[in-house]
Formats: sequence, structure tokens, C-alpha cells
Amino acid sequence: MRTQVCIIGGGPSGLLLSQLLHLAGIDSVVLERRTRDYVLGRIRAGVLESGTVDLLRRAKVGDRMDKQGIVDEGIVVAGETHGFRIDIKALTGKSMMVWGQTEITQDLYDAREAMGGTVIHEAEAVKPHEMDTDAPFVTYYKDGAEHRIDCDWIAGCDGFHGVSRKSIPRSVLKEYERVYPFGWLGILSETPPVTHEILYASHSRGFALASLRNENLSRYYVQVPQGEPVENWSDDRFWDEFKARIPGDLAEKLITGPAIEKSIAPLRSYAAEPMRWGRMFLVGDAAHIVPPTGAKGLNLAASDVHYLFEALKAHYLDKDDSGIEDYAQKAAARVWQAMRFSWWFTTVMHQFPDQSGFDRRMQESEITLLETSKAAQAAMAELYVGAPY
Ligand code: FAD
Ligand code: DHB
Repeated sequence: MRTQVCIIGGGPSGLLLSQLLHLAGIDSVVLERRTRDYVLGRIRAGVLESGTVDLLRRAKVGDRMDKQGIVDEGIVVAGETHGFRIDIKALTGKSMMVWGQTEITQDLYDAREAMGGTVIHEAEAVKPHEMDTDAPFVTYYKDGAEHRIDCDWIAGCDGFHGVSRKSIPRSVLKEYERVYPFGWLGILSETPPVTHEILYASHSRGFALASLRNENLSRYYVQVPQGEPVENWSDDRFWDEFKARIPGDLAEKLITGPAIEKSIAPLRSYAAEPMRWGRMFLVGDAAHIVPPTGAKGLNLAASDVHYLFEALKAHYLDKDDSGIEDYAQKAAARVWQAMRFSWWFTTVMHQFPDQSGFDRRMQESEITLLETSKAAQAAMAELYVGAPY
């Protein structure tokens, strides 16, 4: 088989890139290791920056999001005793959209199918070859037989555990990492959300986050120690802990119910550079991971896709390779800004096991600064809603 762009990974990055390329008349094939149902079953991101919202509309997968997504114009940050609102819309002129990653992936799969796009599921032992030559290709096994796809470019959209990044020589790849000594226990429950604006609470018992998916679907998280087994957390234990960490007025009106999904995600900051090796590009979680505080992961994947799509479009339609040459540097520059924001917000809001009284006072002072300084709020709002591409 031959295609122009061979995309490894059928998560949000790979599907969105394939969809944008298709609309520009550029051919691609997506190779995904899992089944479609498995990919759609992963409950992950929920908050989209305004740039991501615009990109999804451009990719013609914005209709359902515009009808059913919840426009969010502010967030609430809380310390030990009370919360305060940061008016993102007033401070930046832009707003966020609450719209689940599962819904985005569903719409992207439907759009690819309707337009006759090639997405190959259950592709095993996918491997990129000869990326440092002008004739790269990708091999994989399906139903016991080996297949080969020759292409002009390879897009490594295969997430943190994928094969693309690992195929870059050790002597070339630079990695930067911080692993945090805690994780997030997240639940999904069919109950009315306690708040329509996302709440980030820094409590001495640990961090808590209240988010939502729709009028009767709540998404809540609490910080838990690193390596904690999810079996240790009955629904009752989760609700008690969550209630203890959010401001009293909200705790009083919280409606609880059975968890329909419950899982623990570890927290890390990680970046690999360069984001391009010869004719292979790294995109999204394949190149970088941020801790979820501040909801940047999926949004960074979208900005990488935007830069790569523009670069490939200029290459094929205008015979201009400047975007290809600039991709690694441009994408990484935006990644590092989001990396700093997520690290800062994580560090201010969570309890660290070895934290001193001084450290806690510093966290409280950061939160007071945010509550009392319009300038501090404006800086945070700008980063939360997302830098323009
Ligand atoms: P992935 O979603 O990881 O997709 C990669 C795909 O590649 C997968 O389908 C995988 O099966 C496939 N693959 C892997 N290896 C191979 C291989 N060898 N061959 C073929 N296919 C392969 N981000 C936000 O912006 N906002 C949020 O609110 C937010 N909340 C989050 C909450 C949680 C609990 C978690 C875990 C993450 C959250 N994120 C959030 C991050 C966000 O989910 C990720 O950044 C996003 O999924 C990245 O998309 P991706 O397509 O780059 O990678
Ligand atoms: C959600 C996740 C986040 O990481 C965040 O900062 C806000 C909301 C969510 O899953 O809804």
C-alpha cells in the first residue's frame, strides 16, 4: 500500500490530523493498535481551549460540540475555606468548552468513516522504518500477515507508550521528566454536577477537582498517593473524601450516586525532543505529557496537529517546506509554555508527602495572590484559555 502520510495511532491526534489532511486533499492511513470500542471507552479529557474548539470546527467535527457542549466562561479556585471565581471571558475575551474526549473521538471516527478514510484497527507490531531517508515505510501485522505501507511522511500520534518516539535513536532523543508522588482518582457519576464552572480545590487533605460532562453527568477527582490501588476506594470513601476537600457550601449541596467509572491516573511532566526525526514527526502524548491540572494534554495534542497540518498542506499545495523545517521548534515552544503552567498549577494545588509548613504557606500565598490580584488572574486566565497558535 502507498499513502502520502502514514499516521501511527488512532487517538484524537491521529484522527484529527487524518481528517484535516483529507479535507485538504492529502491522503493518509491511520494504524491503530486497539479496537474502536476500546479507544472510545477511555474516559479522559473534558475541557477544550478556544483554539481547540476552532480547530474541531475547521475539521468539520464541531456540530455536536456546538449543540451539546457546555461553554465555560470562568473557573473557581479554592483554598482551605472558600472559593473565588476567575472570570476567563472578561479577562481574555475567550471561553472554554466542556466536551468530552470520548465525544470528539466518536465524531472523528464517524467523519473518517463517512468520507471513506482508511483507519486500520488491531494493527499489531507497528514499526516505522527508514525515517532518516527519503523513502520511509511502516510495517505491521494484521490477522497474522505482515503488511507494508510506503509513504512520504510518518506522523507518530501513538501516545506516551507508542512505538514512534522509541524509534528515534537514543543518541538523538533528549528527555525531560518530573514524576509527582501522587495520582488522581477520577469518577464519573450520573448525578447533576455540583457546579457548572470547574472547581480546583487545594485542601490540606489533598487536591480535589469538580468537573462535568453534561446536566446529569459529573466528573470528579481527588488526589491519592502514588501507587494507590483503586480497589481501596469504595464509592462511599470517595464521596466522603471529596466532600471534605471542597468548600462547605458546595459540599452541602453535592448529590452523590454510584460511580459508573473509576480509575487512577499517575501524574507526570515529560517532554521529548526533537519532535521531528527525518521524515517522522511526533505529535501529542507521543512527545509530551503534562499533569492534568489545568487540562492541557489534549489541547497540546491539538496545537501540534495544527502546526503539522499547516506544514504538510504548505508542502503539498504550495511546495513550501518552511513549516516542515519549523515544526519541531514551533510545537515545542508552545509545549514548554503549557508544561510550565501545568507544573506550576500542580505544585500550588497538591499536597506533597514531604511538604513543610513553609511550603504550605507558600501555596496559600499563591492562592491569595490569585484571589486578590487582577494581574495574577489575567496571567492565569491567558494560559488557561490557551495561547493562540
Ligand atoms: P492518545 O489518546 O494516547 O492516543 C494514542 C493512540 O495510539 C491510542 O489510541 C493507542 O491505542 C494508539 N497506539 C499506541 N501505541 C500504538 C502502536 N504501537 N501502534 C498503533 N497504535 C498505537 N487533556 C486535556 O486537554 N484536558 C483534560 O481535561 C484532560 N484530562 C485528562 C484526564 C485524565 C484522567 C487523563 C489520563 C488525561 C487527560 N488529558 C486531558 C490528557 C489527554 O487525554 C491526552 O493528552 C490525549 O489523549 C492525547 O491524545 P493523543 O492522540 O496524542 O494520544
Ligand atoms: C477535567 C480534567 C482536568 O484535568 C481539568 O483540569 C479539568 C477538567 C475533566 O476531566 O473534566
